[in-house]
Amino acid sequence: MDVPPLVEQARQRAADHGFGYSCAPLTGELLAVLSAAVRPGGRILELGTGMGVGLAWALHGLRGRADVTLVTVEQDPRTAELAATADWPAWVEPHTGDAVRLLPGLGTFDLVFADAEGGKWHGLDRTLAALGEGGVLLLDDMDPERYTLAEHHVAIAGVRAALRADTRLVIVDLPVGTGHIIATVRRGAASA
Ligand SMILES: C[S@@+](CC[C@H](N)C(=O)[O-])C[C@H]1O[C@@H](n2cnc3c(N)ncnc32)[C@H](O)[C@@H]1O
Repeated sequence: MDVPPLVEQARQRAADHGFGYSCAPLTGELLAVLSAAVRPGGRILELGTGMGVGLAWALHGLRGRADVTLVTVEQDPRTAELAATADWPAWVEPHTGDAVRLLPGLGTFDLVFADAEGGKWHGLDRTLAALGEGGVLLLDDMDPERYTLAEHHVAIAGVRAALRADTRLVIVDLPVGTGHIIATVRRGAASA
């Protein structure tokens, strides 16, 4: 697939600043596909803005739709500052701070891409609480073979266990790319 210009610019920004944690192309495409389905008036949350590669993929999926709010949270002030140099549309709402601390005040979302330490490897409960009915959670980097340290394997198992324990969720493991999980909150199950 052709790389959308905003994605290319974000990748270049990452290269210019030696930022090596941007989401992989397949992850970005998944995020674009899921973003395209978000309802009018819907809300998307990205945890971990980085240099804006994921954000750019989500915007690609939305293709100029101003009826969807895209909230993105970055803890590192310098990284947030660099990401903010991009030409994001007005419906992108950037926050600087710890996702876990900010999550309770951000509201609920139709789609969450949890791509930061906070809200994924710890504080996942707050991310799950931020998923509305029918809300979709996208996780990348879930392939245990990517990691050598036992603590990382424990963290991955912990995330899977937490998702399985949430009876509101229906979950699929996609063993492609960096390893993805998509989980959706069943409608009618939000308070189960
Ligand atoms: C994997 S990178 C994000 C890549 C980005 N989502 C993309 O698609 O290109 C993770 C980012 O999360 C940020 N981060 C780490 N802990 C965080 C936290 N607790 N809250 C918010 N951001 C955090 C890091 O500074 C880093 O920029």
